Parts: sequence; structure tokens; C-alpha cells
Amino acid sequence: MSRRSILTAAIAATALAQIPGPLTPEVHPALTSYKCTKSGGCKAANTSIVLDSAYRWLHNKDGYTNCVTSGFNTEFCPDLKTCAQTCALEGVDYPSYGIHASGDALTLNLFKTDPATNATSMSSPRVYLLANDETYDHFKLLNQEFTFDVDVSSVPCGVNGALYFSEMNDKGDKNELNTAGAKYGTGYCDAQCPTQNFIKGEANLNQTSGACCNEMDIWEANRAATAFTPHPCKTNQVAACSGADCGNGDDRYKGLCDKDGCDLNPYRSGDKGYYGVGANFTVDTSRKFTIVTQFLTVDNTANSTLKEIRRLYVQNGKVIQSSKISVAGLEAHSSITDEYCVAQKKVFGGEDDFTRQGGMKQMGDAIGRGMVLAMSIWDDSGSYMGWLDQSPYPSDSDPSKPGVNRGPCPTTSGRPEDIIRLYPDAKVVFSNIKSGDIGSTFSNSTMFPRWARHL
Ligand SMILES: *[C@@H]1O[C@H](CO)[C@@H](O)[C@H](O)[C@H]1NC(C)=O
Ligand SMILES: *[C@@H]1O[C@H](CO)[C@@H](O)[C@H](O)[C@H]1NC(C)=O
Ligand SMILES: *[C@@H]1O[C@H](CO)[C@@H](O)[C@H](O)[C@H]1NC(C)=O
Ligand SMILES: *[C@@H]1O[C@H](CO)[C@@H](O)[C@H](O)[C@H]1NC(C)=O
Ligand SMILES: *[C@@H]1O[C@H](CO)[C@@H](O)[C@H](O)[C@H]1NC(C)=O
Ligand SMILES: *[C@@H]1O[C@H](CO)[C@@H](O)[C@H](O)[C@H]1NC(C)=O
Repeated sequence: MSRRSILTAAIAATALAQIPGPLTPEVHPALTSYKCTKSGGCKAANTSIVLDSAYRWLHNKDGYTNCVTSGFNTEFCPDLKTCAQTCALEGVDYPSYGIHASGDALTLNLFKTDPATNATSMSSPRVYLLANDETYDHFKLLNQEFTFDVDVSSVPCGVNGALYFSEMNDKGDKNELNTAGAKYGTGYCDAQCPTQNFIKGEANLNQTSGACCNEMDIWEANRAATAFTPHPCKTNQVAACSGADCGNGDDRYKGLCDKDGCDLNPYRSGDKGYYGVGANFTVDTSRKFTIVTQFLTVDNTANSTLKEIRRLYVQNGKVIQSSKISVAGLEAHSSITDEYCVAQKKVFGGEDDFTRQGGMKQMGDAIGRGMVLAMSIWDDSGSYMGWLDQSPYPSDSDPSKPGVNRGPCPTTSGRPEDIIRLYPDAKVVFSNIKSGDIGSTFSNSTMFPRWARHL
């Protein structure tokens, strides 16, 4: 599962943001979130969001020249220290990136519009949740649940409105080389080990290193298809990879991270009527709904081993149990466990890198140490998001084989040039972000008569 297009978009965004002018202050849009307990209910927290550093203008602090175009400017960046002392990251105007926050709701647009010309271009923003102006909110979700509402009605085939956790450092690896830190969205890493311009504050001068870390994909979805996927890595927070450790190309299964992950996608699992546009689907994606993800441990405490990742939905006040897996050999499962992952890799075929990378225990250890919440919207110039929503995938595979039908989208969908033409308004809305004790973040109003719901 490739996040290549995010990198492409980030480079494009940097290039588009080369606007000489007065320096922009960084003002984080407020986004209320909620921390919940069984005994005390949910309490609002004054959280906010920050745009990833790669989208920002990075220029020499005494002038207006980019520090990085295709490669690093060798005048400003002859070595790590000079580079760090010379290059400044700018603040950003969030609406101009198609990012709007209001109350507890965040809207991310795939495209942005230039107010001077009304021209539409790729924005593909990625933001992180901040606990305060200098620190990412660090979620520790063992024996806890994470819940949010989503509106995917304007997310078409080929587009991914994603909400996930990466094991980033909570200060964005702020140090003597990186004085910007989380305030400017630094320190990104994920299980695809993406190439970053800076890793732990050090300039990646020859652009050969990647930033690897554990990643828990809570939500990769559009209105047609959805998956949730743990991606364990043999790392503790961010690790700069080089060579085979990055797992690129033929080294895919030799790297520090499980790039494929262990996904649970209702359509791929044979429950084709579970998720989609219209009231005849169990979860109707033409309307807002709630997603609950529970991280259950072996002894139901926060200090033990992750055993199971369970998914529930809530729509119209009704709790919807997880989808029914009907693929032969997987019927016994309804959630992500080590047993499900081993069986899924056997039945669907392919390498079981998940187990090799340490499986649920490895993923759970990262979740116990604390992870940063990332939210993004992107399209995929590499594989057109076929791994998420197309049938069959790969397009030349036999559709009668288990696992190859990922979603209802045609194999011709997801081309970026079609998406900008057909869906210039593509956007996702994430809202009502809550975390806390199991059972504390949602209620099941079908347990009460209709008249009692307003009490
Ligand atoms: C959030 O900010 C408001 C307004 O400044 C303040 O009244 C409230 O106490 C803050 N809440 C928390 C949890 O810090
Ligand atoms: C951009 O679109 C708005 C709304 O449709 C319109 O009012 C405005 O004149 C347009 N601007 C340009 C430069 O075309
Ligand atoms: C890139 O730079 C790093 C750090 O200076 C160095 O260790 C590595 O060998 C270089 N790689 C290549 C391919 O030049
Ligand atoms: C629901 O209705 C739509 C539109 O008629 C149709 O395309 C889809 O296959 C139906 N889904 C189910 C689960 O019946
Ligand atoms: C878990 O362990 C940490 C550190 O060892 C400790 O601070 C915390 O209180 C423990 N939490 C629980 C729920 O036992
Ligand atoms: C919600 O309530 C319904 C009706 O009482 C019940 O069947 C269902 O199991 C409940 N779901 C949960 C998650 O408690």
C-alpha cells in the first residue's frame, strides 16, 4: 500500500508555496477533541492542528531562496549544521491549503483554489493533532478505544481520506538542529519509510534515507471502500533507514517495517453489502457515521500485550457490529488478531511480513508508548488506490481468487487527471474525535426507547 503520492504532493506543494513576501506567522487552527472515562464522561480538550513541515516554504532565513528544490541548495546546505542554521520553515495560511477547522470538525480538501485566478491545483494536505502549540497529542490507546465521526460522501473512488497513528516523537524531534519542532509539523515517519528532507533534525542531504516508524491505520477510506490496518516496524519511534532497511523495490520484505500491513476490508472479506453509498448498505456512506476502534489487551489493562483490534460503527444512534467475513478459511474471525493475520496471508496469498515484524505485540508496544494522530486526503498516481477500492487488484489478476476484489471501483478509476476534472470538490470531514476507556466514547441509543433519547 503506497503513500508515494503524498510525497509527490508534498514536493509539489513546496514548489507552489515559493511566494516571496513577508514571513507568515504560524497560527494553529483550533480543533476541539474529547478525552473520556467510564466514570467521568467526555471532557473537551483545547487541541489544534498543524500542517506537516514538507508542505511549507523552506528558505534561507535572510532571503527568499528555497533551501530545497529537487535537491538541497549546496550554498545553504554544505553540511548539516550550516543547513540547520540557514534554512527557515514558514508558517502557513491554512484555508489556502484547503484546510478548515471549526469547533470539533476538520475539513480537508484534496484540491486548493488560487483566489487570484480560481485555478484548482493539488493540495493533498496532511495535518497532526497538537495537545498544545509545541507538542503533538500523544495517544496511548492500549485497553482504550478511539472514536470519531466521518463524512466521506465527497470522497470518490481513487481518493483516500485517511486518519491514522504514526509513532512520531511528540516534540517533532525538536533539537539543536531542529528548533522548529512540532509547532511547524516536523518529525513525520510511517511504515512506508518515506524519504524526508529532515530526519531527527538532520538534513537528508543526498535524499537517500527514509523515516520509518510503527503505523496504525485506523481509517483508509472513500465512500466506496474502507480498510483498517496495523503496520508494525522493528523500530522505537523514528528510525532513519538506508539501503535495504528502507524496504524499497525488491527489498520490500527486507526492510524495518511491514509495508503491506494486515488489513481488514469488509468488501475484500466478502461482505459486499456492508459499506457503501445508499440506505441499502449496512453503513451508508452518503451520510455521516461514527467509527469506533478498540485496542483490547490480553489482561484488559493498559500495561500488557495487544491482543485484538475491534471495529464498530454507529449510525443514526444504532451500534453496528463489525462486518461478517465470509471468505473460506477466515469465517472464524471478525477483528484483527495474530490468528486472523496469519490466516489472511495464507488465504489471500503473499508474504506474511506482519508476523515477521512482530505482529500484534510489536504494534501494541508502539501504541503503549504513544502515537501521533495524522489526518490527510490524497490520491494515488502510483496504483490509483486500487489496493483499497478496485476489483480485481492487481487489474490482471483472476477475480475468482480470494482477496483480489478490494472494492466496487473499476480498474480504470483513480487516475489523478480524472479526479481533478470530475471531483474538484473532493473533501473529507473528520469530527468529534474522542478517546478513552472501552465503552466510554459512544452510546447505543437503540437500548432505549425513542422518547428517552432526548433525556
Ligand atoms: C480551553 O480553553 C477555554 C478558553 O480559553 C478554557 O476556558 C478552558 O478551561 C480550556 N480547557 C482546558 C481543558 O484546558
Ligand atoms: C472566481 O470565482 C468567483 C466565484 O465564482 C467569482 O466571483 C470570481 O470573479 C472569480 N475570479 C476570477 C479571477 O475568475
Ligand atoms: C548519503 O549520505 C549519508 C550521510 O552523509 C551517507 O552515509 C550515505 O552513504 C550517502 N549515500 C549515498 C548513496 O550517497
Ligand atoms: C444498493 O443500491 C445501489 C443503487 O441502486 C446499488 O448499486 C447497490 O448494489 C445496492 N447495494 C446493495 C447492498 O444492495
Ligand atoms: C503502566 O506502567 C507505567 C510505567 O511502568 C505506570 O506509570 C502506569 O501507572 C501503569 N499503568 C497501569 C494502568 O498499570
Ligand atoms: C445495542 O443495542 C442493541 C439493542 O438492544 C443490541 O442488540 C446490541 O447488541 C447493542 N450493541 C452494543 C455494542 O452494545
